[in-house]
Amino acid sequence: KDQGLKDVFEDSFYIGVALNSRQVAPEATQEFELISTHFNSLSPENGLKWALVHPQPETYNFEFGDEYVAMGEKLGAFTIGHCLIWHQQVPNWVFENESGEMLDKDALISRMEAHIETVMGRYKGKIKGWDVVNEAFNEDGSFRESKWYKIAGKDFIKAAFRKANEVDPEAELYYNDYNVWRASKRKGILDFVKEMKAEGIRITAIGMQGHYTVNGPSIEEIEQGILDIYEAGFKVAITELDVDVLPRPRNSEGADLNINYANSPEFNPYKDGITPEGKAQLANRYGEIFKLFEKHKDKINRVTFWGLYDGRSWLNNFPVRGRTNYPLPIDRDMKLKEDVFNSI
Ligand code: XIL
Repeated sequence: KDQGLKDVFEDSFYIGVALNSRQVAPEATQEFELISTHFNSLSPENGLKWALVHPQPETYNFEFGDEYVAMGEKLGAFTIGHCLIWHQQVPNWVFENESGEMLDKDALISRMEAHIETVMGRYKGKIKGWDVVNEAFNEDGSFRESKWYKIAGKDFIKAAFRKANEVDPEAELYYNDYNVWRASKRKGILDFVKEMKAEGIRITAIGMQGHYTVNGPSIEEIEQGILDIYEAGFKVAITELDVDVLPRPRNSEGADLNINYANSPEFNPYKDGITPEGKAQLANRYGEIFKLFEKHKDKINRVTFWGLYDGRSWLNNFPVRGRTNYPLPIDRDMKLKEDVFNSI
């Protein structure tokens, strides 16, 4: 196979990549070459999140977004927006009035709608699909007690989708979350999106983020997720795929986030390079994951990797800082991993 990743899956689904500001800069020619060879869909890793695009009440910062969208047009890529409403990377002022008091529900929803109108409206017709709401559920399927939820209840989700549909009726609209393979969480999500649909609120697909590890979740768990979403009447988007190869203190509960883990033999075992066993494990894992996606290509519209190459992956600093991770199909030297490529 001497083609790019996108060519291998041409008849199945888009192959996307999340980009940071350095990678969308016009002078990043090596990155551009890599992106154009392998990907036909783009996602913005951070630059369109509220804190970056709208840091102050009267300040919108569209530098990244404009370059990002221009790159998408140059490539003819299916360009994604991420994300309109989330509990992270959102400034505190969003939830407060000028005296620092909590907004009431109506005021918060109006502010949210104005944000959606401005950000989504600017890229109407250019950004083809949006993560409208990100990570609004807990692992047990209940609503996450975010500031959004505490102030506005579940209506903030409905209002966000209604507004997004109004701003760009042609754009695909997604609800996006991690651990959608977990039955309890998925049930909460699907019950709610079905309720939205019954009320006439448009929603195209459910985003399964796909932050996996070499050990889990199981292929059966991921498959059940795909089947249940499709059965509920939605397409599936794999929105943030990567495979952590390191043993992780999984939740920040178990890990001391104040230390840098670079010199931890336990949690940073591949500091000076990944072992042949580690490489094989990664290639096998990608192989089984893509075999599953291929099997369900009629249900999946896109598979997006969360980062362009290993050296730029967020997993070097999540869930703990300072590690050397190898989660993507492109290595630190910006070369495609042949063994991963051959196994998918
Ligand atoms: C991550 C980015 O990759 C990091 O650079 C940033 O510091 C934190 O956010 N779920 C999401 C993404 O929906 O937006 C997150 O991206 C990863 C988890």
